[in-house]
Amino acid sequence: MNYRGVIHRYHKYLPVKTESIITLHEGNTPLISAERLRKAIGLTARLYLKFEGMNPTGSFKDRGMTYAVSKAHEDSAKAIICASTGNTSASASAYSAKANIRCVVLIPEGKIAYGKLSQAMVHGSTVIQIKGNFDEALKMVIQLGQHFPIHIVNSVNPYRLHGQKTAAFEICETLGDAPDFHSLPVGNAGNISAYWMGYKEWRQEGHTSKTPCMLGFQAAKAAPLVLGKPIKSPETIASAIRIGNPASWTSAIRAKEESNGTIDKITDAEIVKAYKMVSTLEGIFCEPASAISIAGIIKFNKKNPFKKNQILVCTLTGHGLKDPDVAIKNSPKPFTCKNKLDDLVKILKL
Ligand code: F0G
Repeated sequence: MNYRGVIHRYHKYLPVKTESIITLHEGNTPLISAERLRKAIGLTARLYLKFEGMNPTGSFKDRGMTYAVSKAHEDSAKAIICASTGNTSASASAYSAKANIRCVVLIPEGKIAYGKLSQAMVHGSTVIQIKGNFDEALKMVIQLGQHFPIHIVNSVNPYRLHGQKTAAFEICETLGDAPDFHSLPVGNAGNISAYWMGYKEWRQEGHTSKTPCMLGFQAAKAAPLVLGKPIKSPETIASAIRIGNPASWTSAIRAKEESNGTIDKITDAEIVKAYKMVSTLEGIFCEPASAISIAGIIKFNKKNPFKKNQILVCTLTGHGLKDPDVAIKNSPKPFTCKNKLDDLVKILKL
């Protein structure tokens, strides 16, 4: 039968009434072997990229949103709400349109990438720009949820993380076992918690022989988990992870400790370098925030070189088309040419 999304595929692990399932056929994203990137980094280990930009709204959020919105639908919810750096709002907007549920999104004014803003707007959500940052917007959403009958679909909603754990299931199924290391960006810290839950569950079910070491990376000026305390005004080019007080703080630290992993910080310059490497060497256009998973591997490998035959997976969390500004600012400028063949030949130095 036609592929019908993560709930149908893993229904046993994501219980909800079949007639309540709201899906845009998310998940089943490619796990891509990255040979040119591996060589450029000088890795002897095997490197795979889980390209979550291939989800219906262009990010991993769809895995959790299908489950959170299906559950809201099952509960006959009238409205859902989220705070977002962009991707959660894009995903909530699309799934709520399909479910015919009202959607309200709070975003930091002027701080989200243009593609994401267009997604929230086009699906008919009520879009509210907050004169504040993501952390402040999330605080308002949580307060509102306590007083009004509106379902919060941020990752404080446990269904979100259960949906997102399916990415770990897929990776294990594709590789035939769990990888040795899993690298990913950390913002509100839901995804690292979800992956760790997924890897542990798949091991307990007897599908794998091990669980990976979790490597989480935050932007240098938005790294509360590395610093050990919240940051008031986080800053980074990677707007998706511009977060100073992650909601899933405790479970992210638990994932790091239980998996014998690490959570480290990466500068914006290192993020941009990795972003350009993956686009020019692998033909994969991901978000700046996603590229931190590769920048993290580069940094980690310098101190603790990965061994030959170890398997590393980096999650590329979102599609680069969401943030064209960063791509244009960080790529060679296009040439301008007269409509004359001579001029073209001159430019091409043929
Ligand atoms: N990568 C991208 C592209 C994201 O959009 C996010 C989070 C993350 C990584 C970090 O994941 O929060 O689970 O640690 N975006 C949220 C949003 C905050 O509102 O779209 P996390």
